[in-house]
Amino acid sequence: MTTEKPKLLIIEDDKGLQSQLRWHFDQYEVFVAGNRDEAITAVRLNEPAVILQDLGLPPDHEGVEEGFHCIREISSLHPDAKIIVMTGNADYENAVRAVAMGAYDFYQKPVNAETLDLILQRAFHIYQLEERHRAEEETRQGPLQDVIAGDPAMLKVCRMIEKLAPSNVTCTLTGESGTGKEVLTKALHRLSPRNKKRLVAINCAAVPENLMEAELFGYEKGAFTGAAKRTQGKVEMAQEGTLFLDEIGDMPLVLQAKLLRFLQERVIERVGGREEIPIDVRVVCATNKNLLEMTKEGTFREDLYYRICEMEIHIPPLRERHGDKLLLARHFLKMYNKQNGSNISGFTPEAVDTIDSYAWPGNIREMENRIKRSLVMCDDKLVTSDDLGLHSNESTFLNLRQVRHQAEKSAIIRALGMTESNISAASKLLGVTRPTLYDLMKKYNIIVN
Ligand SMILES: Nc1ncnc2c1ncn2[C@@H]1O[C@H](COP(=O)(O)OP(=O)(O)O)[C@@H](O)[C@H]1O
Ligand SMILES: [Mg+2]
Repeated sequence: MTTEKPKLLIIEDDKGLQSQLRWHFDQYEVFVAGNRDEAITAVRLNEPAVILQDLGLPPDHEGVEEGFHCIREISSLHPDAKIIVMTGNADYENAVRAVAMGAYDFYQKPVNAETLDLILQRAFHIYQLEERHRAEEETRQGPLQDVIAGDPAMLKVCRMIEKLAPSNVTCTLTGESGTGKEVLTKALHRLSPRNKKRLVAINCAAVPENLMEAELFGYEKGAFTGAAKRTQGKVEMAQEGTLFLDEIGDMPLVLQAKLLRFLQERVIERVGGREEIPIDVRVVCATNKNLLEMTKEGTFREDLYYRICEMEIHIPPLRERHGDKLLLARHFLKMYNKQNGSNISGFTPEAVDTIDSYAWPGNIREMENRIKRSLVMCDDKLVTSDDLGLHSNESTFLNLRQVRHQAEKSAIIRALGMTESNISAASKLLGVTRPTLYDLMKKYNIIVN
């Protein structure tokens, strides 16, 4: 029997150090990459548990930007991997920034084999613990399988749904449009003892007022013009199952009174009928309106409000669910890749920033649509902000180094433009020497012809 060794990826451009490390870590299955491209390929192919990464990668040996890019890209591709960053011994500040960016730990050169061994052992150990935890979560969360949630507030909502499911408590889910009220209602029904019977939904905002009563309670033959045969309403169809009153805040006042009566007596009468039909349903409501406000304005009955809000569950908007945005983005990417037979592997680091900082006014519905469309627009392996139809948000680059770099770069490009790429004129304009300007142009990859 072969036991699989844990996988370690070493990203280091110094060949000597590369092989030294490779030999030293023979208890792991070691992969080596000398630059960012090789690293990304190795991550995709091998999904290493732990990554040991040099922060100074080519072509930016002296700087750290390439190393930071590498960390971001890996964290968006394989967020579970534990990245340990190696820095120069005086580079504490960048080491800390790397950790803030998603690296797991850092290590300052020169290499001391024993210390590095310990750090790596701990990283592998934590990776394994988390992996086991993920596996358990997946089985445990089974019934809420269609609900992607990682944000603490949403996990709380999910736990509440789990707890409420076995009961008959009337729940009302509140939250902006597209936050997942319907998805959660389905989960609630699936987890409940009523799951062998139907979940019947009625959208109170979509049914014209004059048809609402018949739609809810059904009608007898001849009850009104066009009532050709006895017809069941939604309430009756949900018998022994769950009745979902979506957009309950849009229910006309007249109907509110009839609904209240049904909720109190648990019987209905079809339109044009005399017979009282006993009904056993679990009722779940949803709305994007503030029902309490509406009771004060007199547009929603207070007694009905208290009847349906035995338990009120607020679903936070996506912009507040920081833990969920990328999780959902990756979920939809996977889902639509499968549907389209495409193989787009992720998001560019800049798209990751955009997804995280955009306010998502249409919530998850908007995200789903944007990602669905982006897969059609995307002609590369990674989805960009442009593909998503979003502009990358400058404010996410609010760290001084990056701001300085961007400002420097655009000033140089402007100076070169104004002087028709005359280096000595441009350097005068910028107030630097020619060699300095050359260095900067090299640093920022600015090529003049
Ligand atoms: N937590 C979630 N995980 C996965 N998909 C979700 C989640 N929440 C919402 N969605 C998806 O987003 C869209 C809108 O959700 P929906 O439940 O209809 O929102 P609401 O009823 O609040 O307007 C649906 O396509 C749904 O599948
Ligand atoms: Mg809805």
